[in-house]
Amino acid sequence: MAYQLLDGKKISEEILTEIAAEVKIIAAKGGKIPHLAAILVGSDGASITYVNNKVKSCERVGFISTLITYDANITEEQLLAKVIEINNDSSIDGLIVQSPLPKHISESKVVQTILPEKDVDGFHPTNFGRLALGLPTYVSATPNGVMEMLKRYEIPTDGKHCVVIGRSNIVGSPMSILMSRNANPGNATVTLCHSRTKDLKYITLQADIIIIALGKAEFLTADMVKEGAVVIDVGITRMVDGTKKSGYRLLGDVKFDEVAEKCSYITPVPGGVGLTTIASLLSNTLKAAKKEVY
Ligand code: GUN
Repeated sequence: MAYQLLDGKKISEEILTEIAAEVKIIAAKGGKIPHLAAILVGSDGASITYVNNKVKSCERVGFISTLITYDANITEEQLLAKVIEINNDSSIDGLIVQSPLPKHISESKVVQTILPEKDVDGFHPTNFGRLALGLPTYVSATPNGVMEMLKRYEIPTDGKHCVVIGRSNIVGSPMSILMSRNANPGNATVTLCHSRTKDLKYITLQADIIIIALGKAEFLTADMVKEGAVVIDVGITRMVDGTKKSGYRLLGDVKFDEVAEKCSYITPVPGGVGLTTIASLLSNTLKAAKKEVY
């Protein structure tokens, strides 16, 4: 089957261009220029890359950004004090604290300390609860990126069987809620699979749409996929590769070459969902500045 690639770069460029145009209008009217603050703790290579890309994208669309970095030995108390300071700073619209955090700091405590109004990652229980109830909220970046991809490629989801693999708080679980809610995209019949699922292949073979977020390189193979399925790969695993300049290559959760042959649409890794996530974060920050949610 001839498959079509879902191009994350194209979608993210589209969204960033739309945001930049809106910032120009806001600036011309003397309105509030969106301002994102990001806190990075420690020196995890992937986290540094992600945060730097977020800051660079802010510049590109005309946002103000503030990057705050700490050594891994900062105390939880010090970090929470900074979060509270930013909560009280009316010049800052959105705050993200990049995860993972060092073991001695409770991520859950940090997330719950961020004001829901500034939680542009959409991780706060209030924002997650609002998502579950279908209220206006900040949808976290990855699930929102997937929804934008489905919407902008006009992929039908109404009445389809969508199998989500992985039940994490930041991807699988919100993904299952978004796909099942009464909206477009949405209105799918959703099966949420996880590590205790029996006979996963039996279930995935019935899927019109598979969204996989496991973090297990090349887990989904061709024998698990129905002819004509839509496959969305959220996984990103770094594999050591001496032939690459960076020293590693990125692998998705899907064995791309063999699965693609059976698909109507499929996302590549890299170049797929990952690129849409920053666009979603900036879109939430714009909403925060415009006070669209709260
Ligand atoms: N670490 C991996 N993904 C994310 C994300 O979307 N937001 C934050 N804050 N940290 C992350």
